[in-house]
Amino acid sequence: MPISLAVLEQVVREAGTIALTYFKDLKHIAIDKKSPRDFVTAADVAVEAFLKEKLSQICPEYGFWGEESGQTANQTNRWIVDPIDGTHSFSKGQYFWSISVALEIDQQLVMGAVYAPALNDYYCAELGKGAFKNGETIQVSDETSLANSMIGTGFACLRQYLTDNNLARFNRVAQQTTGQRRFGSAAMDLCLVADGQLDAFWEQELNLYDIAAGALIAQEAGGTVTDFQGNDGIFPKQILVTNGKILDQLLPLM
Ligand code: IPD
Ligand code: CA
Ligand code: CA
Repeated sequence: MPISLAVLEQVVREAGTIALTYFKDLKHIAIDKKSPRDFVTAADVAVEAFLKEKLSQICPEYGFWGEESGQTANQTNRWIVDPIDGTHSFSKGQYFWSISVALEIDQQLVMGAVYAPALNDYYCAELGKGAFKNGETIQVSDETSLANSMIGTGFACLRQYLTDNNLARFNRVAQQTTGQRRFGSAAMDLCLVADGQLDAFWEQELNLYDIAAGALIAQEAGGTVTDFQGNDGIFPKQILVTNGKILDQLLPLM
């Protein structure tokens, strides 16, 4: 591995300090729109610029794909970064937003970190070595009944005005579960499944940078990562992550 989880944590936590500087002065932050329902702030840009520079200093031979700056040349071995996941929440002064950093080598996700600076929760994983929250091992929940479950989702599809806008799917799942949550940061949602705080999460029309780190963390915590048909893998356009015990009950509702 070109970097240790400990060094990655130092870098991501430093990025969090930058994000918090903007978060504590939202009255003066520049907020732009990439599309009618998609915001970007000066914090997104500054955090990504820091991560791009720092990670390329540490691993000069690796490429970089950031939500705001796009892809560099080497996309075989690359960092996949969402500098602020949950920008709308961030811009409103809410605490549920995160910095997501994943490392992919030869098309295999091998390391991931999702940091929520306002909550001071740091999730990470390395392929085959388990998942951690604030240094402690985490695992998915033991819930075996969909009826007793708490499920998370998001509405990226509404942002894109798609006809399959997830509302009918949400309606089906909501009527079969006890709790439903839409927290606003897909990267964090995936970590909540890893930590047993959610029993499953699904969303459509995301991008790899939204979910790469969180999906590896959920997988290393014992979760299933599939599409809506139950095919194993990370599918940004159709991601379904569960504790592994309610997948079969959820699939017919997807
Ligand atoms: C968003 C968050 C949100 C999801 C949106 C994403 P962004 O990321 O992950 O939970 O529902 O589709 O775009 O735009 O704040 O980086
Ligand atoms: Ca995102
Ligand atoms: Ca983002």
